[in-house]
Amino acid sequence: MRMECCLLTVCALCAALLFVLFYWLVPAVQRSSLCTLIWHATITERLRDTLTRSTRPQRMLKAVQKNATKGNPQSVISAIDYFCKNSEWAMNVGDEKGSILDSVVTEVNPSTVLELGTYCGYSTVRIARLLSPGTKLITLEFNPAYAAVARQIIAYAGLQDKVTLVEGSSGEWIPQIKERFGITTFDFIFLDHWKDQYLPDIKLFEECGLLRKGSVLLADNVICPGAPDYLEYVRNSPRYESRYYPAHLEYTKLEDGLEKSVFLG
Ligand SMILES: C[S@@+](CC[C@H](N)C(=O)[O-])C[C@H]1O[C@@H](n2cnc3c(N)ncnc32)[C@H](O)[C@@H]1O
Repeated sequence: MRMECCLLTVCALCAALLFVLFYWLVPAVQRSSLCTLIWHATITERLRDTLTRSTRPQRMLKAVQKNATKGNPQSVISAIDYFCKNSEWAMNVGDEKGSILDSVVTEVNPSTVLELGTYCGYSTVRIARLLSPGTKLITLEFNPAYAAVARQIIAYAGLQDKVTLVEGSSGEWIPQIKERFGITTFDFIFLDHWKDQYLPDIKLFEECGLLRKGSVLLADNVICPGAPDYLEYVRNSPRYESRYYPAHLEYTKLEDGLEKSVFLG
């Protein structure tokens, strides 16, 4: 009889624990942007890396090689989105914000384009596929392992002639761009590197004279993880006309968005 009581108590405790876990803890964690990012970008990534002895970018590249058609950028984008929705989350701009990015690139129709933060080349492929013949995109990435994967994904999409991938940090490269690439100003800049670099880098663009009247800057993740100092700057400076495009953090339901800022001179 005592044994049965103990068993019943243990079962009741387990049921209560499961209830708390599934009805309170897991949804609470999913609603928290910080917890979601730590979960996707640290815990599950490290676990899978250890179990598979590969990296997330390498697994993403494999998914592209298996499911996309060589020379077809749209199939590369779809293969990455499918992988990130069904297998592993990754920090690409994603499909929802990606279509906002597409419409801004199409509207600006830039001749000179810079991207900060290549990662595996997802947004690079999105932008490069929309550029007019003769237009080149310069993209900066400071992680050599990411850059190596991005090169292969960009080549798989058949866009290697439209893209110059530069390995190095934005702070080091922005002051050299004019001289190294013969660029006077950029028509369009996509900011999608570490969020605490947005503000120092936009100030570097100004200092280096890389912006002209009408240059368009589009910044990702201004809400999640967020770039509050950058937002305050572009929204309050008389040198910019700024507009927020609400969306969600890539492949999740968490609030995030893009900030489009037009340089007024
Ligand atoms: C959010 S990911 C970029 C995602 C990519 N734009 C896409 O949508 O597919 C940010 C990337 O920026 C790179 N990064 C961060 N800070 C950087 C810096 N200061 N200079 C160059 N690359 C940087 C990181 O290594 C990372 O790969």
